[in-house]
Amino acid sequence: MQLDFILSCSRCERETEPAGTPGVCEECGAPLLARYPLERIAKQFDPKDLEGRPWTMWRYREVMPLAAGEEPITLGEGGTPLLDVPKLAKLAGVGKLSVKDEGLNPTASFKARGMSAAVTRAVAGGASGFVAPSAGNAAGALSAYAARAGVPVRVYMPKDTPPAIVAECRALGAEVELLDGVITDCGAKAREFARQTGYFDVSTLREPYRVEGKKTMGYEICEQMGWSLPDAIIYPTGGGTGIIGMWKAFAELEALGWIEPGRRPRMYVVQSAGCAPIVRAWAAGADSAEPWAGPETVASGLRVPSALGDFLILRAVRESGGAAAAVSDAELLRAAREFLRHGIAACPEGGATLAGLYRLRAEGHIGPEDSVVCFNTGAWIKYLE
Ligand SMILES: Cc1ncc(COP(=O)(O)O)c(C=O)c1O
Repeated sequence: MQLDFILSCSRCERETEPAGTPGVCEECGAPLLARYPLERIAKQFDPKDLEGRPWTMWRYREVMPLAAGEEPITLGEGGTPLLDVPKLAKLAGVGKLSVKDEGLNPTASFKARGMSAAVTRAVAGGASGFVAPSAGNAAGALSAYAARAGVPVRVYMPKDTPPAIVAECRALGAEVELLDGVITDCGAKAREFARQTGYFDVSTLREPYRVEGKKTMGYEICEQMGWSLPDAIIYPTGGGTGIIGMWKAFAELEALGWIEPGRRPRMYVVQSAGCAPIVRAWAAGADSAEPWAGPETVASGLRVPSALGDFLILRAVRESGGAAAAVSDAELLRAAREFLRHGIAACPEGGATLAGLYRLRAEGHIGPEDSVVCFNTGAWIKYLE
């Protein structure tokens, strides 16, 4: 099966072929990213080609890690609504506010996109089992796509992961290990298990394709806005796959000639004040982030004390002219309730983006005329407690 892209190291730029089940760069250990022959693709692929295609993330298959004629392992991920919330826009003092509601994905979070792409390529590459550490939603998504592929899966999660997510993983047939620790502890266990068993490790950015799935959020926003982009995107950042993926998508869209050069949005990171390594690094002007000691937040997806792709997140924020903000748990929960009162069933991490908008607006990073997209990354229903 011929794949029409190469993998390039995000740090040392060493190139590798996408055969088998690639992990990180063998030279320097940094994440690998897929590079497509965009100049050639631009000659054969046009927004009009999308007309009539199903509204899933695979509608962009020419710029996805798929061989010609290959079918992905899919549950219908992507195609989530971009919802205008004019009353909240007024309250926040911005020109326009939309919410990309990722809670409507299979398994009720944006993690479905990344796992669909990662499981598709890994199964094609010969993986016979999957393992991943997770704050919850990634484990739920992986469990579903592994079940869809008929491949066994083990997931490691902190023991205080929302019970609905733990139940979901078990119901989908995953072997669940709950640990007294945070996601980085779960990651160490997952790597050890992968070494012992040969299961494929689909940890954030330790394989190149979850980013490819997540980048489709950027393509979708652009298509939903009539091939234009907002001034600002606010993203609740843990491991950062989504922000890295979207920034990659906007570069690709520019290279394809589908958006005007210089029209990419400013990218804003929001984290919880109880675990804000990227915010601290951004404020210090650093290129990478020191691990956060004693991470604590109710927003479990944001409890990521150190991210393998820290330098890529910071690069996206800087290159785009964005910023990073921390909000308290009280602020993010209050904002999630505000979203709910406008009909958007936001998870705590989604609430963080609205709380972040208030803060970024007050600090002058976001202006009164700006059009803003906030990400609700998962559905409220998983967080009943
Ligand atoms: C609901 C939710 N939002 C945001 C995040 C953080 O996402 P990322 O790792 O892409 O930064 C997670 C990760 O677990 C999550 O579950």
